[in-house]
Amino acid sequence: MGRTMETIEIGASGVTASRIALGTWAIGGWMWGGNSDLGESIYTIRSAIARGITLIDTAPVYGFGRSEEIVGMALSEGLRDRAIIATKVGLEWRDGQVFRNGSARRIQREVEDSLQRLRTDRIDVYHVHWPDPLVPIEETAGVLRKLFEQGKIRAIGVSNFSPDQMTAFQSASPLHVVQSPYNLFERQIDADVLPSAKGHRLTVLAYGALCRGLLTGRMRPDTRFTGDDLRGSDPKFLPPRYPQYLKAVEALDDLARRRYGKSVLALAVRWVLDQGPTVALWGARHPEQLAPIRDVLGWHIDEEARREIDGILLATVTDPIGPEFMAPPARRRAKAPAAKTPRPRRTPATPSR
Ligand SMILES: NC(=O)c1ccc[n+]([C@@H]2O[C@H](COP(=O)([O-])OP(=O)(O)OC[C@H]3O[C@@H](n4cnc5c(N)ncnc54)[C@H](OP(=O)(O)O)[C@@H]3O)[C@@H](O)[C@H]2O)c1
Repeated sequence: MGRTMETIEIGASGVTASRIALGTWAIGGWMWGGNSDLGESIYTIRSAIARGITLIDTAPVYGFGRSEEIVGMALSEGLRDRAIIATKVGLEWRDGQVFRNGSARRIQREVEDSLQRLRTDRIDVYHVHWPDPLVPIEETAGVLRKLFEQGKIRAIGVSNFSPDQMTAFQSASPLHVVQSPYNLFERQIDADVLPSAKGHRLTVLAYGALCRGLLTGRMRPDTRFTGDDLRGSDPKFLPPRYPQYLKAVEALDDLARRRYGKSVLALAVRWVLDQGPTVALWGARHPEQLAPIRDVLGWHIDEEARREIDGILLATVTDPIGPEFMAPPARRRAKAPAAKTPRPRRTPATPSR
């Protein structure tokens, strides 16, 4: 098998993308320790394209517009037609606080803002970032369907949706993609979203494929995170679990080297790709972080190795935890004044996504 980039059709949309995608949340700075270097970020995006990546994932909330703007800048000089831009909709922010808002009005405004920041006339994959419990899913879906019919978006996605929410969405709109957390340590979607996606011919964009850097092999017991870096409050990076996950990474790295002559990073991304109709989102903000892409291509994980991987996880991660810490909390509703109907109040989401 060669080392050319694998590709996949995004659902039945006719849009084809690379199976490794660049994630640009960290490039936005927010929740990753502050602003990234602009030149370095642009170089990272261009180097992703040079390495065969076509899908670039971003969102308005990543740096409150900054990530989308940088993606727009990086692709503006002749690269737009070589890229599949995936972005999102349905989170708003005020004074650094984030709220879900999947209303038709919000989406109609946001899509124009995103097109402008991205310096383009179309978005290739447009996701609803988080389901909004205050807006009927069918309302949100209906607006995306219209944008799709107008040609402003080429494929429709949802993110962080359950299969039931996906079904509700599909009653009002075509759906091509679901974006969910998925990696060797966070496998919750195996039980529901992944089988459902397979049954409905949806592509799964797996986010956190490197488990926020844990599965790269770079983390050490004394690694510290600065500023607003979300890993400072990620329970996998904190005692008592951090040593367990580090032990698992060490054993997985041994396995990868012994069986395949690869690193744990390559094993982690290959594992995501071998699970079904998936795309692995690889977050990076430095061009050299993408160099190991070549080690992911041209091989597969066999059954025996899979069993060994599962055994390692069982033996080392005795106190596993999922990615729930990133999920926005259920919103509080305002207390009803004696004689008035209560109005739902938008409460801030935790720093996530
Ligand atoms: N839909 C959603 O709700 C949602 C939620 C989360 C993420 N996402 C998307 O998924 C993308 C990927 O997820 P993620 O960024 O959270 O996490 P990730 O891809 O699991 O991890 C990214 C981090 O891993 C480290 N890394 C990458 N390559 C490396 C290498 N070669 N050597 C050492 N370290 C390396 C970098 O950390 P340092 O920069 O610190 O070195 C990088 O920022 C995001 O960028 C975003 O596009 C979507």
